[in-house]
Amino acid sequence: MSLFLNALAGRNHSRPPVWLMRQAGRYMPEYRAIREKHLFLQMCHEPELAAQVTLLPIKTFGMDAAILFSDILVIPEALGVGLHFKESVGPIIERPLSSFADIQNLPSINISECLSYVAEAIKICRKQLQVPLVGFCGAPFTLACYLIEGGSSQNFKKTKKWMLKEPSSFHMLLDRLADLTIDYLHLQVKAGIQAIQIFDSWAHILAHSQFQEFSLAYLKKIVEALRPTKIPIILFCRGSSVFAPLMAQVEPSGISLDWNCSLQDIRRAVPHPIALQGNLDPDILYASPEEVQRHVSHMLKSMQGDKGYIFNLGHGIHPDTPVDSVHALVETIKHEA
Ligand code: CP3
Repeated sequence: MSLFLNALAGRNHSRPPVWLMRQAGRYMPEYRAIREKHLFLQMCHEPELAAQVTLLPIKTFGMDAAILFSDILVIPEALGVGLHFKESVGPIIERPLSSFADIQNLPSINISECLSYVAEAIKICRKQLQVPLVGFCGAPFTLACYLIEGGSSQNFKKTKKWMLKEPSSFHMLLDRLADLTIDYLHLQVKAGIQAIQIFDSWAHILAHSQFQEFSLAYLKKIVEALRPTKIPIILFCRGSSVFAPLMAQVEPSGISLDWNCSLQDIRRAVPHPIALQGNLDPDILYASPEEVQRHVSHMLKSMQGDKGYIFNLGHGIHPDTPVDSVHALVETIKHEA
């Protein structure tokens, strides 16, 4: 068993494992070199390329887990809403959902056919990796945000207005997305993924009770559906420093924390065997390597002896992060802990 899977099972007696959200991305010159020649979605669709990018950070920094190179928006793309990525803007959905009829008119799709390229990428990665491979998906709430808004947004107002004015059709959309996600995660498990992380990147725009009704209920549906496969599942929400005790009720294998909370405080509220992952502020990587080392050491000390702790950032690594900081981070964990 690996450090990462041991920690996720709450029985790691060695140093904590480390990986970083968005570790396969633009902060790496090797990524930018490949990206110059291909569109982002093309890289997701092409299994050989996706596998090559997945492996980049493992080869360069030696993280203890790899995360599959892909995107949470491949499900909306498969639904035919017209996804593309605009340079320095982000995702654009050409035909966003704006009515109940739009939800009803979404086509029925066969996930294992539409997203077979993801299974292929997983199989190629597994042949080449010595560390566990993490698969992922977006939470139904976050996918709904993009589908309704048509892209990224400051405050996702259209989504919240829909949610508040027409909760029943909003629930219908979330339920549909949860079912598609369950099929998608089964596909990933069958292809050989060794753990799953669910990203609810926009959960923090929800009030406490809204989070339970519109996000957590569907996370629970997904976790329960996957339980028979025994695949470990990590839940990541922006807002997890507030929502962690609620997230624990779903009994995931792990909870990934944003950087607003103290890990020790959360550990008091979330008992073993639920693993805790996180939660360095990604901005700390703009500091000098010595400062990075100081912050990482401090965090390691705060979780010393915790058998279910996985080091990560509190959110994805920024594209302009200095590579030296990432080296300093990984080296500190490998040599100090
Ligand atoms: O973590 C990894 O290294 C694996 C790959 C991964 C990507 N996206 C690659 C990517 C993962 C796990 C994601 C998840 C994802 N995608 C989320 C949830 C995680 C989070 O950060 O909250 C979200 C909200 C998306 C949707 C998405 N994809 C956005 C909003 C953007 C644009 C943001 C930006 O920084 O430009 C993307 C593009 C994207 N996804 C890139 C990568 C490497 C950059 C694409 C490029 O090269 O231009």
